[in-house]
Amino acid sequence: MCGIVGYIGENNAADVLLGGLKRLEYRGYDSAGICMLDGGELHTERSVGKVQDLADKVYQNLPENIIQATRLGVAHTRWATHGEPSEENAHPHLDQSGRVALVHNGIIENYKEIRQRLTAAGHSFKSQTDSEVLAHLIGAYYGENGDFLQAVCGALNQVEGTFGIAALCLDQPDCVVVARRGSPIVVGLGHNETIVASDAAAIIAHTDQVIYLDDDDVALLKRDDVDLRNIHNVPVSRDVARIEWDARAAEKDGYDHFMLKEIFEQADSLCNTFRGRLDVKQGTAILSGLNLTPREMADIQKVLLIACGTSLHAAMLGKYYFEDLADLCTDVEPAAEFRYRNPIVHARDLAVAISQSGETADTLAAVREAMNKGARVTGLCNVVGSTIARETGTGVYLHAGPEIGVASTKAFTSQMMVLMMMALKFGRGRRLSIQKGLEIIKEIERTPELVAKTLELNQHIAGIAKKYHYVRDFFFIGRGYLYPVALEGALKLKEISYIHAEGYHAAELKHGPIALLEPDVPVLALACDVPGKDKLLGNVEECRARKAPVIGIATEDDEEAVSYLDEVIPVPRTSTLLAPLTAVIAAQLFAYHMARFRGCEIDQPRNLAKSVTVE
Ligand code: M6R
Repeated sequence: MCGIVGYIGENNAADVLLGGLKRLEYRGYDSAGICMLDGGELHTERSVGKVQDLADKVYQNLPENIIQATRLGVAHTRWATHGEPSEENAHPHLDQSGRVALVHNGIIENYKEIRQRLTAAGHSFKSQTDSEVLAHLIGAYYGENGDFLQAVCGALNQVEGTFGIAALCLDQPDCVVVARRGSPIVVGLGHNETIVASDAAAIIAHTDQVIYLDDDDVALLKRDDVDLRNIHNVPVSRDVARIEWDARAAEKDGYDHFMLKEIFEQADSLCNTFRGRLDVKQGTAILSGLNLTPREMADIQKVLLIACGTSLHAAMLGKYYFEDLADLCTDVEPAAEFRYRNPIVHARDLAVAISQSGETADTLAAVREAMNKGARVTGLCNVVGSTIARETGTGVYLHAGPEIGVASTKAFTSQMMVLMMMALKFGRGRRLSIQKGLEIIKEIERTPELVAKTLELNQHIAGIAKKYHYVRDFFFIGRGYLYPVALEGALKLKEISYIHAEGYHAAELKHGPIALLEPDVPVLALACDVPGKDKLLGNVEECRARKAPVIGIATEDDEEAVSYLDEVIPVPRTSTLLAPLTAVIAAQLFAYHMARFRGCEIDQPRNLAKSVTVE
């Protein structure tokens, strides 16, 4: 949602903090701010817009000698929840005395009540935010006892809601205090420096040694020491972990956009997802992180796949895999819906939370609900050490590498891969034969080659996008395994190009939406040569009869499909199980080029943020 960076060390804090914010900008980009301490003074700057706007302001407004002397500070890039994007609402927020500066990610649910109390005690507020209320509350405690760590603990004991915070105090020029509940905080342990951030992307250039804070942890950070407490100020200990990827993984590496880079990484990211996880003797998958014995697996009676957004579309694919390969009854649950209705969950159900970030608030709440109801819960996350990964305790990491583009691409294909491997494993424990298992493994091993061939279509797809990028509405249709791809293709298009796009089951079109088809409302049909293609081509005919142009993602050399389509994106022939893979990569490229021709901000689409840690 928002990105936080904090620093204390021997380097120039302004450069470190602004560099860190740039790497976290995908978490929020409507405003940004920084506060640094030097020579007994707090230097605070805030600005609406991108981190670069803030950097320009800092280097313009602060004298060079001060910038060079700063060794300590906190910074923030915001995705607005309470209060519009404005300078007043941008972080850091100061307390009433102007001695405490705070950056905050999350939502303080009882902020109105605390604000009223503090207002009655003489506090005045400059912003509409819940975060400023927390800064004042910390300041109020600090005023009473003069102990900064104790003040943060005292304030956090008063608040309801979620927080990832970093705070500094004018009187304490040698420390930054951080804490978390529901919003990630990662502490990087460098050489004579400590850098803290909402995620590892801002840290990796400094160190690969990190501590992931748990909920209700508070840490007093010095340049060479980390004092870990809980919010009752009682010491706790946490393991030091190693970040597995290198700094280049979080760079564009010559590509114009992270999204394009991540689309092109998919042969590698998929390899990383399945490497070491295929048992070529038994025709099954090795997913030890699931921590299930064969007997426990055989005992599972239903699978619940819980997710949001793109991950929800991967879950929809997972349903096909589990039902077809493992004969397991599978429900797909939009996380936000699952947590608020009264879902029927049994002890023999396996709930699988699917989340790239591992931080999505709705998915996390659904995990907790499924746990409360007695289900086994496991996580499929990309971000190592993320909240969902840690709360579920078991699961399978995607190993897709950092995904920075707000539009999820490589995480989707890795989620699809993990779900296929899980279904294979469950299937082999049930009725799937070893021969069938071995065939599936061969298919999986072919994926890098299939991806590489699909990526060769880049220029061809760009040519089609050039022709259609001016349209206002788009339909995506598919059936069977390609139905979730229709939904995902439409989501990709709308989120980065702002074209109104609807994904539909091809058969559903005639139950209403067909009324919207016209010559300037194109349809993208997922027309690969898999079961259901004949019916789909019938639906294509219905569209063309309404004069809607139809672009088809079809199997190469499929002359029959070509004869039905106005434009063809010919993807390599695959089995049914892998048809969604090549089709979705073509759809990702299509959305990318449409957005590019429309001049959109592809990596940072308006109103969005990479990880949605509010309801
Ligand atoms: O991190 P998660 O997988 O839990 O995120 C879920 C959605 O917020 C995410 O997939 C979102 O829909 C993407 N912007 C889609 O590209």
